Amino acid sequence: MLNYIADIEKEALDSIEKADSRESLEQVATRYLGRKGVLTGFLRNISSLPPGERPQAGKNANLLKVRLEKEIRQVESRLEADRDGEARGIDVTLPGRVPARGASHPVTQVLNEICGIFSRLGFDIVEGPEVETDYYNFEALNIPKYHPARDMQDTFYLSENIVLRTHTSGSQPRVMEKNDPPVRIISPGKVFRCDSDLTHTPMFHQVEGLMVDEGISFGDLKGVLTTFVHQFFDSGTSLRFRPSFFPFTEPSAEVDIQCVMCRGKGCRVCSKTGWIEILGSGMVHPAVFENVGYDTDKYTGFAFGMGMERVAMLKYGIDDIRKFFENDVRFLGQF
Ligand code: FA5
Ligand code: MG
Repeated sequence: MLNYIADIEKEALDSIEKADSRESLEQVATRYLGRKGVLTGFLRNISSLPPGERPQAGKNANLLKVRLEKEIRQVESRLEADRDGEARGIDVTLPGRVPARGASHPVTQVLNEICGIFSRLGFDIVEGPEVETDYYNFEALNIPKYHPARDMQDTFYLSENIVLRTHTSGSQPRVMEKNDPPVRIISPGKVFRCDSDLTHTPMFHQVEGLMVDEGISFGDLKGVLTTFVHQFFDSGTSLRFRPSFFPFTEPSAEVDIQCVMCRGKGCRVCSKTGWIEILGSGMVHPAVFENVGYDTDKYTGFAFGMGMERVAMLKYGIDDIRKFFENDVRFLGQF
């Protein structure tokens, strides 16, 4: 008898689940729970069972009745909700919303590309601190206190001897103090200057480069930078080395590349000169070697410091450096 109830249970739950309309659900309810329903009939005739089986059979049948009523109510409200949805014009077959996918910031993309090129040329990548001591940012680089060269870079001072680094050049003495030659590194990162217009922002990125060994010459500097420019832009891009001054290099040169906007004809971006400065460079000054304890008779080296936004702007034809930091996804999404 208990098996019989279990069979009814299985059959009834199955039909309830299959019901896909109010009508078919109602039919199921009537079949099992109606006045002439299967379960109702069973309960009515319980007295015809042997006396010993009656209590258990009655209990199970009643529990099943309660369970079926509950299941039916649940399916009923689900069917009702579906119908409401259709009535309100909800298309349940519509695909879900795809979450917006992020991407690397264009400066990060350019940074990765620059690191890739120099890695393949055998340079290691090291990082220096953004909050720097006056010593590494200036003194070790042959820029004593009150030296006029400090005015070339408007410095954010945190205290008398602590600054937000104005360039990545502090990585030079930091790396050389810890390593004997040969040294071949680049050091990318954020730098800070009190500066703001179309081509200057108070925070921007530089990549420092440093190569020291016996017999390094200005020819090596030219070769490495030319290789870089030809890989980063295209192999037809001209470079020019323009004499300049930095206290930590001698001789010093600023490197311009042919304006990629006008191909050297002269435009607004290059102030009609046909050339755009991308970096400062030179042969490491012996005073810097002395500060880190390198033998100036034995070793020579070159260094350079490149503006990352500057080369990103040239590569992608961006005319305002501030766009990098406004976080407008319409701009950022194009890269
Ligand atoms: C320097 O910072 C030197 N440390 C570079 C150097 C390194 C010379 C090693 C010799 C040896 P300069 O101040 O010119 O130099 O800056 C280097 C580059 O950073 C510039 O060519 C330019 O591309 C970029 N730059 C400078 N100021 C800003 C700014 N406010 N916003 C965006 N880019 C800038
Ligand atoms: Mg400069």
